[in-house]
Amino acid sequence: MFTKSLHLQILRWLLTPLAFLVLFNAWQGYSDARLVAGTITDRTLVGSAHAIAEQIKVVDGVVEAIIPPSALEMFASAYQDRVIYRITDSDGTLLAGYSDVPEPSKPVDGLEPRYFGSSFRGQTIRAVALRQPLIGVGEHRFALVIVGQTLHAYQQMIDDLWIDEAKRQLVLVIIAAALTWFGLNRGLVPLARISDEIAQRPPDTLDLIAIERVQTELRPLVSALNQSVERVRSQIAGQRRFIADAAHQLRTPLAVLKTQISYGLGETLAGEKDRSLSAMKDGIDQMVHLTNQLLSLAKIEPGAQVLARERVDLVAVTRHVLEEVADSALAMQIGLSFDVEADEVTVQGSRAMLHELVMNIVDNAMRYGKSGGFIAVRIGVEENVAVLRVQDGGPGVPVAERERVFDRFYRILGSDAEGSGLGLSIVREIASRHGGTVVLLDAPTGPGLLVEVGLPECSA
Ligand SMILES: Nc1ncnc2c1ncn2[C@@H]1O[C@H](COP(=O)(O)OP(=O)(O)OP(=O)(O)O)[C@@H](O)[C@H]1O
Ligand SMILES: [Mg+2]
Repeated sequence: MFTKSLHLQILRWLLTPLAFLVLFNAWQGYSDARLVAGTITDRTLVGSAHAIAEQIKVVDGVVEAIIPPSALEMFASAYQDRVIYRITDSDGTLLAGYSDVPEPSKPVDGLEPRYFGSSFRGQTIRAVALRQPLIGVGEHRFALVIVGQTLHAYQQMIDDLWIDEAKRQLVLVIIAAALTWFGLNRGLVPLARISDEIAQRPPDTLDLIAIERVQTELRPLVSALNQSVERVRSQIAGQRRFIADAAHQLRTPLAVLKTQISYGLGETLAGEKDRSLSAMKDGIDQMVHLTNQLLSLAKIEPGAQVLARERVDLVAVTRHVLEEVADSALAMQIGLSFDVEADEVTVQGSRAMLHELVMNIVDNAMRYGKSGGFIAVRIGVEENVAVLRVQDGGPGVPVAERERVFDRFYRILGSDAEGSGLGLSIVREIASRHGGTVVLLDAPTGPGLLVEVGLPECSA
């Protein structure tokens, strides 16, 4: 469902990276906010610690620590953070504040303030420790000032800094999604227009869609559509031509038949009537043959039916054809020979169609090559191609005609043999539907035609 909608797909492509960007930004914002809030808190702490340290005095050898109110006022905020402090002498004597205020884990040396995190009576605090030298009570004496604060204000500052920003970004993403949806709806209008245009065409229209009126992105689609319309057009034109040719082919023997009937009816002599009837039978045989060839062609037309995909032994199919014609060959004094390289040569496809293919080639060899008195059939395998060769000793086909004889209804003039002119086009169609080829060659020895069919062999 998700991938079927262009809207959802584009939104997903857009929003997924955007969501990652927003998440990254939010994380970055949070880190920045922590840094800023940390800096502000630390500055307040150290400011307060300095204010306290400055008020430590030595009066008559006694250290006095007075906490100036300003040192605590610095922390005033709405969050009522607890501020704690502790001042100790260098020997550890508590001068002011709580004795349990924690110290930094590392002792403070030098005059640099030391910031640290810790906890005080169960609350997390941030604190600073500062050393203040005591002048007037001997050398190496100092007071240690520690000021700490609970973290409510700090936490609130972080939230204030980044949550609003994150919300703003979220709103931006939602607006971007809405705009994308809207833009897509507008952008897909031309596509809907083309669909409407196609849907509303009259059923018999095969006009092309005008590509100039279409957006650049849609042109490949429209041009593919137009190409398929062109293919349908040429297919329809081909079929019209074929029907016209077929009708023409049938009309001629029918006209002859009609004449023969009229002639026969007019005859009174029994012998003449018989001759008419036998001539009519020949005519009808020819029409039956033509009709069968037309049917074969209709069956193998691409798209007419799914090609059967059985394993077929070409040797067995050819032997079967030769057995079928053996009697006629004997009667016509044509010697048949059959040479095979292997007992079985398997190809994939339709047994009935392959039978038709071999039959048409052998039938031609008998009909047109009978003067040679022999037909040599060979089957071999060459580089995974099953090769069927049928050679006769007849007049052959002139080189200039070798492509044309594959055209439907094309026959070479001057041959006295009957035929419909469809045999070789059926052969080529069947070969190509099996992924194979067919060529006409000169017989290697003497006159005659060699028909060579190559079909992809399927090894066991
Ligand atoms: N072995 C051959 N020797 C000489 N000419 C041939 C041979 N095979 C085919 N031809 C020529 O090629 C033409 C076309 O052959 P094709 O098999 O297509 O049609 P056809 O034999 O006339 O009719 P159909 O096979 O439908 O009965 C034939 O008319 C014939 O002139
Ligand atoms: Mg033929």
